[in-house]
Amino acid sequence: MEHRKSLRLWKRALAAIPGGVNSPVRAFGSVGIDPVFIKSGKGTYVYDVDDNKYLDFLSSWGPLILGHAPRKVVKATRKAALQGSTFGAVTELEVELAEFILAKLPFADKIRFVNSGTEAVMTALRLARGVTGRDKIIKFEGCYHGHSDALLAKAGSGLLTLSGNIAEASSPGVPEEIVQNTLVLPLDNKVVFEETLKKHATSIAAVIIEPVPANAGLLLQTREFIEFILKSAQAKGILVIFDEVISGFRLGFSGYSGREKFSPDLITYGKIIGGGLPVGAIAGKKHVMDSLAPQGPVYQAGTLSGNPLAMAAGLAALKALSRKNGEVYRNLREKAEYLKKSFTEEISPLFSSYEWQIRLVQEESLFWFSFQQKGETKTVRNVQDIEPFSAKLYAKIFRSLLDLGIYIAPSAYEVGFLNDAMVFKDIDFFIRSLKKVITGLPKALREIS
Ligand SMILES: Cc1ncc(COP(=O)(O)O)c(C=O)c1O
Repeated sequence: MEHRKSLRLWKRALAAIPGGVNSPVRAFGSVGIDPVFIKSGKGTYVYDVDDNKYLDFLSSWGPLILGHAPRKVVKATRKAALQGSTFGAVTELEVELAEFILAKLPFADKIRFVNSGTEAVMTALRLARGVTGRDKIIKFEGCYHGHSDALLAKAGSGLLTLSGNIAEASSPGVPEEIVQNTLVLPLDNKVVFEETLKKHATSIAAVIIEPVPANAGLLLQTREFIEFILKSAQAKGILVIFDEVISGFRLGFSGYSGREKFSPDLITYGKIIGGGLPVGAIAGKKHVMDSLAPQGPVYQAGTLSGNPLAMAAGLAALKALSRKNGEVYRNLREKAEYLKKSFTEEISPLFSSYEWQIRLVQEESLFWFSFQQKGETKTVRNVQDIEPFSAKLYAKIFRSLLDLGIYIAPSAYEVGFLNDAMVFKDIDFFIRSLKKVITGLPKALREIS
């Protein structure tokens, strides 16, 4: 493949934009090549500026569950743009989208729209602190909740002990005093959670978790663990926030909470909710949500929040998703099953002469390549259990797949997304290409170094 125009643009980008990108992982830093510049997308394919075509498993990191430029979303967005993109005043579309969503979420009474997942989480935490009058929050190692200060926290040295748990800032510029109110706990560990509540419960405002952690691989949790967190925290007056920025509207319309019939106090959304435009949201029970300004004292605002363009795109996308009683989700499940079957039959046997293997981890239309030692059967539920050799092998596989016209996430720790525009033939192409790449790996890479 030729990447001449991409290369030229990359040089310009590096001179004008820090690191050349407006979000770090787009720089392809961990896969060892310069990024390709995408020009357009249609259905399940994207095209770069050198006119190379790629089967897209990135879906812009999740929002594009319907594929690129779906007709109805484009039409609704265009119509809204022609009528004015923003007024900074109340509009009918905000009410329509709010009502449309709430009618399908039994666990939420009200919803507030913001512009990103980061903003939604930031607001949810402020709301939880405002309502409870407490300062501390619990997050889990391996869950990502956007780039606000309190959540750019990593586990302190006491992570896996029953005593420490106070976080350290994971980025310069985040004051230590801020992350000192963030407790970072390991996933899949009831004992540490219980001990932490024993010690700190009366000062904890909220527990935030991705119920389907999809930002450090796909660290599937047991339903029992999530239920344990929910019940034991709520019993102590601690609000539970499910961050469904990825899982919301993806594991069925009502996300993880709806599927499992759980009632977290607050749920944060992003990605799919905006139909490809910047939207985030906080939803929850009336008594909590009504503490938000202007009804209540907890401040939150946004110049472009709920703007008609984003609301129109979101509404069109969500209407498409709820069509025919969830036909899109049924189709996605079929494709996910097909991917699993093809992978098991055609890819898994290829590792018989290798020292390592890839296990395909899936949750509905999300998938992740979990690199493991040969013969290992344990489900990876914790960041510590991700094999360090994953990154190097993944980088090689990423580069080879890209060359064959397949675009997966440029990092071993990110998940892949199936979309509604994808057909079985596309999955066959993916499997065929993967087979070619894996059988073509040099001998040195078949061993773990
Ligand atoms: C679970 C989760 N929460 C929050 C965010 C932050 O959302 P945004 O990138 O829209 O700010 C992300 C982004 O990937 C996410 O995956």
